[in-house]
This record gives sequence, structure tokens and C-alpha cells, in this order.
Amino acid sequence: MNKRIVEIAPSVLSADFANLAREIEQVESAGADVIHLDVMDGHFVPNITIGPPVVASIRKITSLPLDAHLMIENPDRYIDSFIRAGVNWLSVHVEADTHINRTLQHLRANGVRAGVAINPGTPLGALDEIFPWVDFILLMTVNPGFGGQKFIPSSLRKIRHLRDSIVLNRYPVRIEVDGGIDSGNLKDVLTAGAEIIVAGSAIFSSEKGASEAVREMKGIAERQIKNQHLV
Ligand code: DX5
Ligand code: ZN
Repeated sequence: MNKRIVEIAPSVLSADFANLAREIEQVESAGADVIHLDVMDGHFVPNITIGPPVVASIRKITSLPLDAHLMIENPDRYIDSFIRAGVNWLSVHVEADTHINRTLQHLRANGVRAGVAINPGTPLGALDEIFPWVDFILLMTVNPGFGGQKFIPSSLRKIRHLRDSIVLNRYPVRIEVDGGIDSGNLKDVLTAGAEIIVAGSAIFSSEKGASEAVREMKGIAERQIKNQHLV
């Protein structure tokens, strides 16, 4: 495996939306690397969240990369609005996009990192034909729609399998994981091969406070990377 960089991506889904600027500022100064934004339409998932205007407002208050996770049907209809709103990374669900190859090329042509999200029940084979157009895979480790759910244990095997095929084929594709990740299972997730770690409730609902939760996760990630380089 090449030199690994682990990034922590707090998901603001579990933040206090009336105080988003303050919440984001806290995780940013604690060392968060990316801000993860969960976009839900009430169709692809049974919940509704934010759209481009909120993303554009968030763009003004942070210099961190914005990572939009679109849990919506017909994502192509909205992608340009999210690009205009200032996202840097964007993922669409493989289950929701009929012409995903075209979508991914469009993202890259617009300077946005192209991501594909995949649900726990979808086999990895659904990704086989699109790796050359993908910058990152967002592997869901819960069924999308809500924060605060429990990590699905079989996800570890799925992360390992994805890592193996990426390494085998030498694709320059990173693995992002999302759902139920906290300081208790972070080490396992990293060992399995994840590199970008989304965490919502473990950060914004933490009793220690969001800043401390980010520092703790960054610390675990740094130790883990050092250990992997020793072996
Ligand atoms: C779930 C979202 C996640 C969510 C994660 O559908 O995609 O990004 O915010 O929240 P936690 O970390 O609480 O599982
Ligand atoms: Zn997400």
C-alpha cells in the first residue's frame, strides 16, 4: 500500500443546525480535514435535509473542502447547483444514478472529486466498470438516512475486499466510510483499509464536545498509520 493519508470528515447531520457556523469552526480548529454534508430527498432515503443554498452558506464560513453525499434520486438534475454552491467532493449513489459514468466525467470536468456511494446491501461488483472514473468510493457502513445508527459489522469484510481490488488493479481510488464510526471501532475500520472517515454523532453528540472528539479520532488515526508503517 502506498503512503496513506487518513482524513477525518465530521458529518454536520448531527450538529446543531441553528449554530452551524460555530459547530464547523470548532471541528475545523480541532483538526478536521473535510466537512461532510448529507443531502437527502425523502425519496432515495426516508429523510430530508439540506440543499444547495445551505451548502453555499457553509462555503462562506469554512476553508475546508466540502464533501457532499447525495442521497437523492436523479442526482444529475442537481449536480450543477451543488457545484455552483462550492462543493469540492461529491458522491452519488450507485443505486440512484442510471448514467453514472457520465455523471462522474461531468464532476471531474468541473474540478470536483468524483465519488460513488454504495449501500450496505449492494455488492461491490456494481463498481467494477466505473473505477477508472472514480476518485473515491463512499462505502456505507449503515443504511443511509439517519445519523446515530449502529455500525454494520460485516462492513469490515467489505472494506477489505474493496481495498484488495483497488490495490490489485492499482486504481488511484480512496475509500471513505460512513455510518456508526466512533473512537471504539475506528482502528478496525482503518486496519481494513479506510482512509476518509465520516463521523456524525460520535463527534457532534459526544459528551466530551466536538473538538475533543475530533482530536481523539485524529490521534487514533495517526497512531494507526505509524503502526502500519512499522510492520
Ligand atoms: C447517514 C449519513 C451519515 C451520517 C453518519 O445516512 O450518510 O453521514 O451523518 O452519522 P453517524 O456517524 O452518526 O452514523
Ligand atoms: Zn453521509
